[in-house]
Amino acid sequence: MILEVCLIFLTLYVMFLYLKPKGNLPPGPMGIPFIGGAPYCFVDSCIKAKSKYGNIFMTKTGATNIVYICNYKTAKEALSKLELADRPHWKLFNFFKEEREKGRAGGIVGSNGSHWHHNRRFLLRHLRDLGMGKSKIEGIILREVENLVEEFKKLTKEPSLFPFSANISILNIIWQLVASHRYNFEDEEVENFMRKMGQLQNEFLFVGLQDFFPILNYIIPKPILKFILGITKFEKASQEFYDLMKPFINEHLKMLDPSNPRDLMDDYLIEMTEGKSEDYSHFSITAVLTLKLKVYYRIYSLVYLDATINEVQRHCSLVPLGIFRCATDDLKLEGYDIPKGTVVLSSLAALSHRDRTYFKDPDEFDPSRFIDENGKYIPTCDGFQAFGIGKRQCLGEQFARMELYFIIGALLQNFTFSAPEGENPISLEPQRVPNMNYPKADQKFVIKYRN
Ligand code: HEM
Repeated sequence: MILEVCLIFLTLYVMFLYLKPKGNLPPGPMGIPFIGGAPYCFVDSCIKAKSKYGNIFMTKTGATNIVYICNYKTAKEALSKLELADRPHWKLFNFFKEEREKGRAGGIVGSNGSHWHHNRRFLLRHLRDLGMGKSKIEGIILREVENLVEEFKKLTKEPSLFPFSANISILNIIWQLVASHRYNFEDEEVENFMRKMGQLQNEFLFVGLQDFFPILNYIIPKPILKFILGITKFEKASQEFYDLMKPFINEHLKMLDPSNPRDLMDDYLIEMTEGKSEDYSHFSITAVLTLKLKVYYRIYSLVYLDATINEVQRHCSLVPLGIFRCATDDLKLEGYDIPKGTVVLSSLAALSHRDRTYFKDPDEFDPSRFIDENGKYIPTCDGFQAFGIGKRQCLGEQFARMELYFIIGALLQNFTFSAPEGENPISLEPQRVPNMNYPKADQKFVIKYRN
């Protein structure tokens, strides 16, 4: 019996040594052999690890090594490399049924290789054309802003939570450009769906366990695994999303006039029917659903408003740890070996946004840091990476900036916001959600109309 136990341990140890990546790897916690430790999904654990291991460190979860780059300069250099342009090939990124069946993510955010390249180029080209009709986009945003101001007026009687209509407003702007449709603020179906998607964010980590521990797929029966990891819920949400969008796709297919595209969905369907290249035929209809827009935005700038929007982005770091990348080849970073297949989290915005090298008194909220000595707005600077950096940089940056400018501008012009009398000041601490810094949803505001 003792001999058998010793043999098992010895075999496991040899396997461990064999599977252990070789070379001068970044330092980091060892974790339990074969299991490793949980990946760092919260900023505080990254800050602690940075102070212990330095600017580059590595964790291991199951079969996956994750390297964290906490230094802006190294991250910028790393993210411009083609070897780090891919997202990990995780099931987690295959949100739609069709993607799961093909084992490949569609759209842009999770896709890779020539598929991603074509999608990104397609959208950039079409969105640039959309940008030419700038007045259309401005018109849509301004109409949406007017509706939102009317909604906020209804909330001036007593302290109120931040209204959900703001989320629907943002959806409406994109959806009018993509599918020529806007939802009413009272639309319960879309509100319930959006709330559900928000809640799912908390559960992504469990769904992701199948990617970290692929062995689970072989040792646990599928229905049980799906239930335990919440995959069933994830699949149900993806089906609901599809059902919500399907009528738009059908209507667009029915009314499609190739000589007169009405919106992005029409443009996309035309490309698909033309089947311009092998890669376009790979385009799944689901990609339409994950479309994101880029438009060009040139309006009269209110310097302080622009600077404040930048400072909000810096201070809150909405996507504090960036989105995963994956090394498609062996590479070196600051003398360390990064083996092919390593997952890399290198856009640690929350850390560079609080780095004194780039921002004086980084904990202070101070919009003037984005205004130069001649009173001109500084749109970006070293250390600022709210929209990511490098090859996967946010496609919607200009669009998001335009929306934020009009919406925040209109709300501040029309209302004042404060904490209810006798209550604590409004907290800037984010909700505890993996890899996102959402504002706390349960705080009430006193909203006063300025007349
Ligand atoms: C304040 C709002 C926004 C913030 C803070 C933000 C931030 C980000 C970040 C950090 C990334 C990851 C970049 C990387 O992997 O290095 C990203 C990717 C992306 N964003 Fe945004 N984003 C915002 C709004 C938008 C909007 C409005 C759109 C679309 C209209 C959009 C479209 C995209 C797309 C398509 C990608 C994936 C790009 C790729 O993988 O090639 N984003 N965004």
